[in-house]
Amino acid sequence: MKIAPSILTSDFADLKNEIKSISNADYIHLDIMDGHFVPNMSFGPYVSKCISKITDKPLDIHLMVTDPLFWIDQFSFNNTKYITIHIEANNFLETVKKIKDLNIKVGVSVKPNTSIEELKEYLAEIDLVLVMTVEPGFGGQSFLSEAAKKIVKLNRLRKENNYHYLIEVDGGINQDTIKIIKDYGADIAVVGSFLFNQNNRNEMIDKLKK
Ligand code: DX5
Ligand code: ZN
Repeated sequence: MKIAPSILTSDFADLKNEIKSISNADYIHLDIMDGHFVPNMSFGPYVSKCISKITDKPLDIHLMVTDPLFWIDQFSFNNTKYITIHIEANNFLETVKKIKDLNIKVGVSVKPNTSIEELKEYLAEIDLVLVMTVEPGFGGQSFLSEAAKKIVKLNRLRKENNYHYLIEVDGGINQDTIKIIKDYGADIAVVGSFLFNQNNRNEMIDKLKK
């Protein structure tokens, strides 16, 4: 299992050290919220750019914004690996194309109540599906096990059709829930509050990877 820490609940006054403390991570997950698509605001392109300069980890950027098309260029850093948008966002297809044109991998996210059916026609072309196991907007919520069952379906569709997307799961991941999503066939786990509450985060990342 690959681990993508979400820095949403880290200490933003000490970001450099917070990022150092997760150096065993595979990716760094950046949660971008515009106060419109979700009822919260996090941080934007400027803070993300500062982060991109202090780490060489691949960035996994999760845009919870209404108008991703407007923002894509501003999140295109040297180490931006994935940009994930929500299927409900404005100009969905145009945004997917724009991300691809920048040579960045495209992710599509599904909220707990969004079904995989809505994604089906795009599955052949996308690099990552981000399954939300909490309502997007806040760190520290509890894992929704019903939503996690979509992983099984995504895994089956991938095998049947030879699709190449990775399955990433976001929300309420801890040492117990990671076992569930691993059994279901997830490839990447986003871990936020559980990880940042640990004294030794790198040790926990290594445990979660197994
Ligand atoms: C929620 C975000 C998640 C969240 C994960 O909107 O997309 O990445 O911060 O945090 P935990 O692991 O605390 O649920
Ligand atoms: Zn996220």
